[in-house]
Amino acid sequence: MDLQGKVAVVTGSGRGLGLAYARALAAAGASVVVNDVDADVVDEAVGTITAAGGRATGVVAAVGDSEAAEQLTEAAVREFGRLDVLVTNAGILRDRVLWKMTDDDFDSVVKVHLRGTFTCARAAAVRMREQGEGGRLILISSPAGQRGNFGQTNYAAAKAGIVAMARTWAMELGRAGITVNAVVPVAATEMTRTIPAFAPAIEEAERTGTPLPDWLRKDEGLGTVEDVAGLITFLASDGAKDVTGQAIGIGGDRLALWAHPKEGAVAFADGGWSADAIGERWHDGVGAEPETYGIPAPTAPGA
Ligand SMILES: NC(=O)c1ccc[n+]([C@@H]2O[C@H](COP(=O)([O-])OP(=O)(O)OC[C@H]3O[C@@H](n4cnc5c(N)ncnc54)[C@H](O)[C@@H]3O)[C@@H](O)[C@H]2O)c1
Repeated sequence: MDLQGKVAVVTGSGRGLGLAYARALAAAGASVVVNDVDADVVDEAVGTITAAGGRATGVVAAVGDSEAAEQLTEAAVREFGRLDVLVTNAGILRDRVLWKMTDDDFDSVVKVHLRGTFTCARAAAVRMREQGEGGRLILISSPAGQRGNFGQTNYAAAKAGIVAMARTWAMELGRAGITVNAVVPVAATEMTRTIPAFAPAIEEAERTGTPLPDWLRKDEGLGTVEDVAGLITFLASDGAKDVTGQAIGIGGDRLALWAHPKEGAVAFADGGWSADAIGERWHDGVGAEPETYGIPAPTAPGA
């Protein structure tokens, strides 16, 4: 993959998956704007990328408000002359069950993930449309947004909204040659290492320097952050110019196309459905095989 001459912004790229994306894009030849809230990790990330022969600059800003989004687009243009790729990756968690979730838990997660994706994508789309040469918006979603997840009202809502925005923007930006896709990653990071079913295997792999076991890499699609980065580089490349409006899962040894939500069972009643008619026919009709909900709990073999 050759991204020479392209300029990318990756939000939340001081550590974790974002850092892996920034490093992979730079290794493929792109100039990268690294962003995070923490100046130390931004400096360190820029340092590692440049030490490896890549081009990078850093912007310390909290993604969410329009000002941060403008700052990122401006840095790309000021330092490298243009903007071709935006990866909206910055994220936080404030997990709590619904009845304990505070307004602040909800708002802060929605602000970084959903509003941050919106404001950054809007600023990037304005710039890419001015350039007139297309572009790439790569929005980071999550399995929680596709399925719902216990304790993640705020996060699941934001991540589902991100996929809906990707599908909307793929329609709106198609004529400008700007592709928009949602990536649904899974990787061992600070965010996932606390999941009880994953923790022992992640600790073991880190201690022994061995890969995660096959059941995690294949069944759960859990691997390293580098396992996810290849998809970001591919989507940024010319080879993906016709890939848009998709939600693509990646992690460990697994690459998957998430289905677009569509109607399952359908039934008709002439003149419409009364409550009684639905009640009479629900359990043997469209409700006979209800959909599952929630991310299935991972279980280690033999557990
Ligand atoms: N790790 C996984 O398995 C997984 C699964 C699904 C989705 N994701 C998503 O991938 C993204 C990265 O996750 P990660 O596991 O690398 O997490 P992480 O916590 O390791 O990294 C997230 C980074 O974003 C930064 N950040 C937080 N708020 C910010 C803000 N307002 N502006 C700029 N930067 C900010 C953090 O400082 C941190 O460096 C997130 O959007 C996350 O929801 C991760």
